Amino acid sequence: MKTKEEKESRKAYNSMAEWYNHVRTKMYPKGWFYNELLEMPATLELLGNVRGKKILDFGCGTGIYAKLLTKKGAKLKGFDLSDEMLKIARKNNPKLDLRQGSGYKIPFNEKFDMVYAALVIDYFKDWDKVFKQVSRVLKKGGIFIFSAGNPVSECKINVKCGRKKFKALGIKDYFDEKAIYTDWILDERKVRVPAYHKTYETIIKTIVRNGFELIDYKDAFPLKKAKKLFPYDYELYSKIPFFCAFKLKKK
Ligand SMILES: C[S@@+](CC[C@H](N)C(=O)[O-])C[C@H]1O[C@@H](n2cnc3c(N)ncnc32)[C@H](O)[C@@H]1O
Repeated sequence: MKTKEEKESRKAYNSMAEWYNHVRTKMYPKGWFYNELLEMPATLELLGNVRGKKILDFGCGTGIYAKLLTKKGAKLKGFDLSDEMLKIARKNNPKLDLRQGSGYKIPFNEKFDMVYAALVIDYFKDWDKVFKQVSRVLKKGGIFIFSAGNPVSECKINVKCGRKKFKALGIKDYFDEKAIYTDWILDERKVRVPAYHKTYETIIKTIVRNGFELIDYKDAFPLKKAKKLFPYDYELYSKIPFFCAFKLKKK
């Protein structure tokens, strides 16, 4: 592990692994707004029928997707940069081959029918390097699905309304592809989480340049049941697309 972004995201996820898994499985058994009720429906729709497919879970986190897709009949393997996230993923999926490693050097040498990276690609500065690695482990005609922060809503903007000033989601510095740091508020601590903003132009050119064809796309929209469970988040993110998901085919 060499890069600044790998060190920063590993540190962040190692320090919050237990909390991350707890929120999504125990604290909100019906699902956490941002994952189960917002990002996962988009990614799962793009994944479609996974029965019998050989799938690589890129950035498997605590193994929530891995468990679900294995139940649906996928032949799944996975990897993650954070050893603490991985410890929980292995506990949740004791029979699966889940390895420690980075998407800059995927720790597998075999070929898969599908690779998916749910909310992971934002942690990479160099997407070309990631796409080359994904291409290496995908069969010809294989599918690569990734979900990410939606480029239009990644930058906070200061808004003035009469005398009041507040932070709202909106486009600010859209063309500045810098690292954006967000403080995630856990129970009693803050964890600084990095993410690399990319424009749509960069994303689409990266797809094309690396020999992939864009075959589907989704702006993540919250599930209806989120309206009751998380009314504030539902109201906001049924108006602003917080995440998006791309489905690509290796040519
Ligand atoms: C938001 S979590 C998503 C976890 C899982 N995909 C899910 O949706 O439940 C992001 C994950 O990306 C992993 N990650 C960050 N940088 C990575 C890298 N360079 N290579 C592999 N995984 C990475 C983190 O350790 C963390 O588990």
